[in-house]
Amino acid sequence: VKSEGFLMIVLDNEKRIFTLQTRNTTYQMKADRHNILLHTYYGPRLLGGDLSCLIQYADRGFSPNPNEVGDERDYSLDTLPQEYSSCGVGDFRIPSVEFSPEDGSRLADLRYEGFALYRGKYRLEGLPAFWGGDEWETLVIRMKDDAAKMSVELYYGVLEDRDLITRAVRVVNQGTGPVRLLRCASLCLDFQQDSMDFITFDGCHTMERCPNRTPLRPGIQSVNSLRGTSSHHHNPFVILCGHEANEDYGLCYGAMLVYSGNFQAAAERTQLENNRLVLGVDPYNFCFTLAPGESFTAPEAALVCSPNGFGQMSRQFHRAMRENLIRDPYHGKRRPVLMNNWEATYFDFTADKLVEIAKGGAGLGIELFVMDDGWFGTRDTDMTGLGDWDVNEKKLPGGLEALAPRIKALGMDFGLWIEPEMVSENSRLYQEHPDWALGVPGRPQARGRSQLVLDFSRKEVRDSIYEAIRKILDSANIAYLKWDMNRSLSDVWSAALPSGRQGEVYHRYVLGVYDFLERLRRDYPDLLIEGCSGGGGRFDAGMLYYTPQIWCSDNTDAIDRLRIQYGTSFCYPVSSMGAHISVSPNEQNGRVTSLETRGVAAMSGTFGYEMDLGRCTPEERETVKKQTAFFKAHYDLIQKGDYYRLSDPFKDPCTAWEQVSEDRREALVSIVCGPTQAAVPFRRLRLKGLDPALCYAVNGEGAYPGDVLMYAGWPLPIPRGDYQSLQLYLTAL
Ligand code: GLA
Repeated sequence: VKSEGFLMIVLDNEKRIFTLQTRNTTYQMKADRHNILLHTYYGPRLLGGDLSCLIQYADRGFSPNPNEVGDERDYSLDTLPQEYSSCGVGDFRIPSVEFSPEDGSRLADLRYEGFALYRGKYRLEGLPAFWGGDEWETLVIRMKDDAAKMSVELYYGVLEDRDLITRAVRVVNQGTGPVRLLRCASLCLDFQQDSMDFITFDGCHTMERCPNRTPLRPGIQSVNSLRGTSSHHHNPFVILCGHEANEDYGLCYGAMLVYSGNFQAAAERTQLENNRLVLGVDPYNFCFTLAPGESFTAPEAALVCSPNGFGQMSRQFHRAMRENLIRDPYHGKRRPVLMNNWEATYFDFTADKLVEIAKGGAGLGIELFVMDDGWFGTRDTDMTGLGDWDVNEKKLPGGLEALAPRIKALGMDFGLWIEPEMVSENSRLYQEHPDWALGVPGRPQARGRSQLVLDFSRKEVRDSIYEAIRKILDSANIAYLKWDMNRSLSDVWSAALPSGRQGEVYHRYVLGVYDFLERLRRDYPDLLIEGCSGGGGRFDAGMLYYTPQIWCSDNTDAIDRLRIQYGTSFCYPVSSMGAHISVSPNEQNGRVTSLETRGVAAMSGTFGYEMDLGRCTPEERETVKKQTAFFKAHYDLIQKGDYYRLSDPFKDPCTAWEQVSEDRREALVSIVCGPTQAAVPFRRLRLKGLDPALCYAVNGEGAYPGDVLMYAGWPLPIPRGDYQSLQLYLTAL
């Protein structure tokens, strides 16, 4: 039964079945006769119908039965697939929500109450979320725990063409006394099917988002962050898939959290070899006290199911994020090729030196000059100055008013670095407001990079920093801001909240960051903001809603970057990955690579330079010119083309990837080889995504049928020397 006027959400009112249909997938839930909302199916698209026939019932020892089912012993919340899991009432798997009313109980027994349906996409107050118009449909399911008088609304946004289902949860206290909310996941996904693999994206500072894949074993496997940010160490994006799934084949489910703070992604394999995934804010030090009438909104989660492997899943995420999540002030226009002085100078610069460096880039196709850390307060090392957002006139006489026009005269826009969430003890700000830093009175705080974290959960703290940054932004023509964040949160305690509400600080901090970013977007709609947290420590969909690009890693080595960008690409689009060419030998690991190879790696990102181009030889300058011209000429293909991973840099001797235009008439293949060897085996690279019936010229020459390139492959040249690279530009004839 199609509900009138709705294309993606199909209702069967009588049977209380809710089916979400996307182009390639179907998602279904059903409120059963006990008002339990069962998850009946998620997978390749089906015609529909009542899929609760798939659910199996069995009496299992130690799996209790809800009171009202009497001696129906095969009915247990512990074995049935739940849409949003309860807790303390007989389901012993991972709970989704936990609340504690005044009686001190910690149960949640959710029963179906009703639904609402509307065209368009729901919004979440103060939180980043996917957006759009009538291409979306929204379903809201209302659940209730009668005893605790708590209502739980489950939000579903459906975007048909992208196979995207977004979810969010709002909990409302409908009782007469306060209730403590101790956990509130954004997503629960149950599979009554045999075991799956769990893929997470893990690493550390300078080696972020490396994929790790393991079969789920009995029990719970999880990744999380307790750092206050999404972290370098684990990403709030995970995949569940069949053991057989690979890039082009097999069923997989990607789940991301649109959030930039503590998170937990937990997957459980149960006694019946079923699987559950729960994704949301980590419950550590999380406790929101809701007064009667008050509500809490959990951040958005988004799902893509691909019946055809990881590649299709990634491409769906990329498009959905580019078109319906990332708010890009350059929308429809090309973002600038930039140069950044950080690795060229670190803290040691003056206005004249910066202008000299900018001069080195003039005439080479660079469009934006970014002044990194060290321009403000007493910031001559990373021990001081954070919080004092006024120009260091010793380094930059006349301030930004004097410097920006000098850069503009060289044909470049001007941008700068800030780290607004931080304070150095050695700063005026800290002397005046020591209590503005997170920290418990009587306990000296842990320092990270010698700095403390400002309490961004407090409005007056944000307001004061915003004022200072606003003055800077208004003092000159500033086109770009790099928003950095260089430590993890510790000593999380806010002087502004009573003892019973300290469990709100982690989340309120993130809301504070979002509020600040939203203000910047409102007051400076043309400003391009690049996110950064020691490189990729806060690379998540929440930040991408405000900052269309994020510095992918502090590691600028082209070869390490192949792995980092490969892992990142499983969820995030090329247009979001900040990538620059830096010097060789590389500053982080000493590796020597050619300028060409560094260009190939950095070009599958937002592209720029992080070095003193004035020191380049004339030949190198010619190469730089060619690189920027090539990047600009193929910008749409590189940034918006369909992305195909052609190899695995953690295993294969050569790393290759490909962007294909929507009409499949144009493609760019990038190949970077690892260390060389004698007697290199003959190798062929099979391309993907081409039209098998078209013929393509490769780098302007020949006529190669698409089917040959895809099914037989392209013979790779035999490299002489380490880390050789190659780009193949294909055009249909
Ligand atoms: C972080 C960033 C770098 C640079 C430095 C400046 O590490 O990731 O790109 O901006 O801070 O201190």
